[in-house]
Amino acid sequence: MNNLLTIALSKGRIFKETLPLLAQAGIEPVDDPETSRKLILDTNQADVKLVIIRATDVPTYVEYGAADVGVAGKDVLMEHGGNGLYEPVDLGIAKCRLMVAGPKNPPNDGRRLRIATKFVNSTRRYYADRREQVEIIKLYGSMELAPLVGLADRIVDLVDTGNTLKANGLVPLEHIADISSRLVVNKAAMKMKHARLSQLIAQLRAACENH
Ligand code: ATP
Ligand code: PRP
Repeated sequence: MNNLLTIALSKGRIFKETLPLLAQAGIEPVDDPETSRKLILDTNQADVKLVIIRATDVPTYVEYGAADVGVAGKDVLMEHGGNGLYEPVDLGIAKCRLMVAGPKNPPNDGRRLRIATKFVNSTRRYYADRREQVEIIKLYGSMELAPLVGLADRIVDLVDTGNTLKANGLVPLEHIADISSRLVVNKAAMKMKHARLSQLIAQLRAACENH
């Protein structure tokens, strides 16, 4: 049986914040993804590899079993839909909020609001639940710019300190969801590699409690 464990992580914030938790589970990467060009990193455990991918791709790799487990923000999981994934641990890292934001005193001319966001599915669900008809404009980043140049009335984006909104003259308006990063597990791998994954899940749960 294939006993190799593949863990999908994204560079930057999630990698940095997951590293101490993995270390408490006895897993330490041999290379640093910020300096190495490698996309598959060895760890101190011969049967554990890390794959380094875009944050938004983590649920896809885990859904298709290309990685057994991964770490993804709840924002990314809400967009993906969570098909084929278990979400057994809230790691409590990379905490922020998914919010509607916009200019402080927006003109109210009764027009249908235009909302710029990269979180199209979550935004559609949010406004559908409120029975509000809006036009959603898909962007891939720098959402804060959209209201400043008349592309949109509001944005749906992640807010932590609020500094990015403030720097662009915007204010948080409505709270959609609290976000943190979750451990996600491929459903088939959970059956096939049950003992190894149960151990990892227990170790990460314990690591979060000590965090
Ligand atoms: P991609 O590369 O796929 O576009 P990204 O650039 O959004 O993803 P990161 O900025 O590393 O990737 O964010 C990864 C996760 O960290 C997000 O999905 C979210 O859950 C969380 N996050 C994003 N921004 C913040 C923030 N300012 N403070 C805390 N957590 C954040
Ligand atoms: C995220 C998010 C906001 C910002 C909010 O961007 O898209 O722009 O953080 O954080 P704040 O409320 O503390 O200012 P990030 O810094 O991850 O940049 P990126 O999405 O372009 O990688």
